[in-house]
Amino acid sequence: MYKKVPIIPLAVIGIVIAAITAAQALLIDWLPPAQSEQAERTFGLLWFLFWLSAFFFVIVTSILVYAIWKWRASDDDLEDGPPTHGNTKLEIIWTAVPVIALITVAVYGYIVLERNEAVAADRVNVDVYAQQFNWTYGYPDAGIETGTLIVPEGRQVQLNLRARDVIHDFWVPEFGIKGDAVPGITHTIWINPTTKGTYPVVCAELCGVGHGVMRSEVKVVSEQEFQAFLTRSSSRVKAQTAAATAAAKLETAPGDVAAGKTIFEAKCSGCHAGLGTEAGGVGPQLKGTALDTAGIRNVVKNGRGAMPGGLVSGTEVADVVAYVESIK
Ligand code: CUA
Repeated sequence: MYKKVPIIPLAVIGIVIAAITAAQALLIDWLPPAQSEQAERTFGLLWFLFWLSAFFFVIVTSILVYAIWKWRASDDDLEDGPPTHGNTKLEIIWTAVPVIALITVAVYGYIVLERNEAVAADRVNVDVYAQQFNWTYGYPDAGIETGTLIVPEGRQVQLNLRARDVIHDFWVPEFGIKGDAVPGITHTIWINPTTKGTYPVVCAELCGVGHGVMRSEVKVVSEQEFQAFLTRSSSRVKAQTAAATAAAKLETAPGDVAAGKTIFEAKCSGCHAGLGTEAGGVGPQLKGTALDTAGIRNVVKNGRGAMPGGLVSGTEVADVVAYVESIK
């Protein structure tokens, strides 16, 4: 047992090792810029862990390097080292210090998790659907679906992760959060985006041949832009639904037999002989058809066999159906 700690050589070795460690940490871009509150906390915790580890790493390695250099055995020294007994003081120190370090890390980690998962009352709900090999985003409150995730800056977003086939993993590196999308369950993560911009969405779980291209984008926009996006998208969906309903109504409304006959003459009589009342044309005789109204409408709209669909549309459908009904 030596009497004095060799401060100077230890310090020199320590400074060299610390410089190499710090250079690696500082000169390489290990992490993307944090663009969410969660990423700020997570990256903060990560760097805290790194510097804490680096601190002990430098102490342990410096003593190790010094010991190897100072007390190395000469080539002709074949003796065993002298026997030593325990050092109570040292053992207490090397037990207490790691215990304190672990408790510190555990408490810090707990605080970060607790804050990262604190749910805000005004959060935006988005359903994330993962499927080989793409992402779909549903906004249940607005009733719309998109291929790009659009979220407001400065408000919490709750992502309900779901998988339609195999396990995927939703990851936006700048948000500092990953979440598995697992078939059969919904896994929830929360993100508070802090900066407007476009960031990549990456699948971080090997899910098949297209895993590497299973990417999408998240756009963080202002609250006004977000509201405009919701209104625009949901009014487009409403307009489409309304148009489809209106078209279906037109087609099923009572048609006009005379108008139907005129349309039939122009568009159908080339194939259906005698305006549909006689056999012998390219198309069958319609008089005596076994089809009911819905069946006739279906053929008029969608065609059958050699007859193409889409020859008539809108109110014409109802008129032609009325005419065919009148001769059947
Ligand atoms: Cu989906 Cu990898």
